[in-house]
Amino acid sequence: MSDGSFLEPVLGSALPWLYLDSAVWTGVGLLGNGMFSTRFLYQWLHSERKKKLIVPPAFWYLSFWGSSISLLYAIHLDKLPVILAFCFLPFLYARNIALLRRDQRLEEQEKPSAAVAGPAPEVVSLKDKFAEITEHWQPRVIARVQDMEVKLAKLRGDFVWHQHEKEDELFWVHQGQLRIELRNGRLDLGPGEIAVIPRGVEHQPIAEKEVEVVLIELQGTRQTGDNT
Ligand code: NI
Repeated sequence: MSDGSFLEPVLGSALPWLYLDSAVWTGVGLLGNGMFSTRFLYQWLHSERKKKLIVPPAFWYLSFWGSSISLLYAIHLDKLPVILAFCFLPFLYARNIALLRRDQRLEEQEKPSAAVAGPAPEVVSLKDKFAEITEHWQPRVIARVQDMEVKLAKLRGDFVWHQHEKEDELFWVHQGQLRIELRNGRLDLGPGEIAVIPRGVEHQPIAEKEVEVVLIELQGTRQTGDNT
């Protein structure tokens, strides 16, 4: 090839198969092209299935192999503009794949195995746990459910007005009568009744007589809300 051939003078004698005029090369070109163009189709279908825009790992593998095979075909064609169009892509995609694998490894490490996910399951008796509590307004964590804590508390008297900016708070009365004052009304809860105070809603729990209450809220929720 004398018509603008570029690498052939350098590579031709060492790698003669690169410049063979064969139908196999057409197949190579079609394969590279096919992989490189179906990656978007694949990504689109994947996103449609998951109903959100995502780039599946296979997209990067299709990109890498599609551009690598296309680069090989471009070298066979021996046209500088085509070679330039593909010569950096495999490296970029290889880099993305390396980052992807690193993330997957990190995720794998962070994933707690079933054996170390938490303490062994056990039966917790609310009655026994309440019996251990002597002070009022001192919630005690008796269980964790993922990011949520289940707490028991004995309440007596008026608590302060407060709100929790980011956390909802569930009150579950076990024993007694709990009143929860709200700025625009009040809730009266008896045994076996629950109420959820949404985040940002001011409230004041009041227990005229002792109340045993189960609280379910996000870990780190402060009893007095954001006031203190
Ligand atoms: Ni509260």
